Amino acid sequence: MKGFQTRNTSLERTEFVGNSPFDRYLLGGDQTAMSEEAIRGLELYRDPEKGNCEVCHTINEEKGYALFSDDKFHILGVGAEIDGTLSDIGRFEISQAEEDQGAFKTPHPRNIADSAPYMHDGHLKTLKEVLDFYNGPGNSNDFRDEKIKELDHPTAQERADLIVFMEALTGEHPAKVGSPSEDEPEATEPAEASADGSSP
Ligand code: HEC
Repeated sequence: MKGFQTRNTSLERTEFVGNSPFDRYLLGGDQTAMSEEAIRGLELYRDPEKGNCEVCHTINEEKGYALFSDDKFHILGVGAEIDGTLSDIGRFEISQAEEDQGAFKTPHPRNIADSAPYMHDGHLKTLKEVLDFYNGPGNSNDFRDEKIKELDHPTAQERADLIVFMEALTGEHPAKVGSPSEDEPEATEPAEASADGSSP
């Protein structure tokens, strides 16, 4: 079952990358590909004084493609309890370095609108909850990455713009494949039938 899901995910990545409204707008130069809201959201996303999202979810416009990840580990406070104790130690498990406690690798937000729930533990159910997480104090943690800007009292409009922008990261679905959520088997019922026909 696991193998099946992994294969599915990589299929999704290779087929989808490159044709989202965002790609057509920023990399393809099509000014009409994104809505006004999404364009404002992109500005917030890149603005070091505002969202500052791009420092980790990098765009690399000059290279002509956008990977949306710096491929590094960061501490966001995911996996930390209110009192600061960690329910999930992240990279520390492997590195045993103190500064890696609660650090997770930056995922790319492509097709993000279709891939809820969010964060490695899936505890955030919507993109709105993700923004609430970034904007609020989050779960404080001595090592929390300083690059996380708490959008200073973002207006409802600013939040909405950022969400519309993230929705513009969704590429067209290949004709024969449904949305990832439809595609993934709900229940992981292994086929009861003896697949190898090896009954005595
Ligand atoms: C300091 C680096 C850093 C900054 C700044 C940052 N992120 Fe993240 N982001 C991460 C990491 C690391 C994760 C994964 C955390 C986890 O899995 O627990 C993540 C997860 C996410 C996810 C969920 C992805 C998924 O597949 O579950 C979204 C959406 C997201 N970030 C959007 C944003 C937005 C929008 C901003 C700006 C407001 C932002 N990020 C700023 C590092 C960062």
